[in-house]
Amino acid sequence: MRNRIEVMHGVNLDQLGRRDPEHYGSVTLPELERQVSEWAREFRVGTRFFQSNHEGEFVEHLHRLEGLADGLILNPGAWTHYAWSLRDALELTGLPAVEVHLSDVSAREPFRRQSVIRDLCVATISGHGVDGYHEALGVLAREFAE
Ligand code: DQA
Repeated sequence: MRNRIEVMHGVNLDQLGRRDPEHYGSVTLPELERQVSEWAREFRVGTRFFQSNHEGEFVEHLHRLEGLADGLILNPGAWTHYAWSLRDALELTGLPAVEVHLSDVSAREPFRRQSVIRDLCVATISGHGVDGYHEALGVLAREFAE
């Protein structure tokens, strides 16, 4: 039975709570993670959390997931838009992944419209704030049930 979700946050997402509340709200990363783990119970899935500001660490964490996770929720922060190493590492995992952004990346600066991981992901959720993670859990829970 597949039920293990790795929730991974990239660069600057440890600073939630200090970042522009217009885009990101006022929630801190520990608060967000607590909320996501509560929602996970509703979907009968387990969650583990990881955050790094170092691209290589993020990539190596993806490398190490073999046999430890059944699905991924990824918010890579700004790396989303240019870090091709993440795309290659994600592809290597072979896991179903949902891309989540708190802000609506399609309605901000043009450089945020590109995502290096979008076409590898089963869904992209952007602009729904913390609720986007609830949606992502639902997408993966349905994927696991297939
Ligand atoms: C973000 C959007 C990115 O463009 C930005 O660089 C972030 C956060 C979001 O959650 O809205 O750091 O991924």
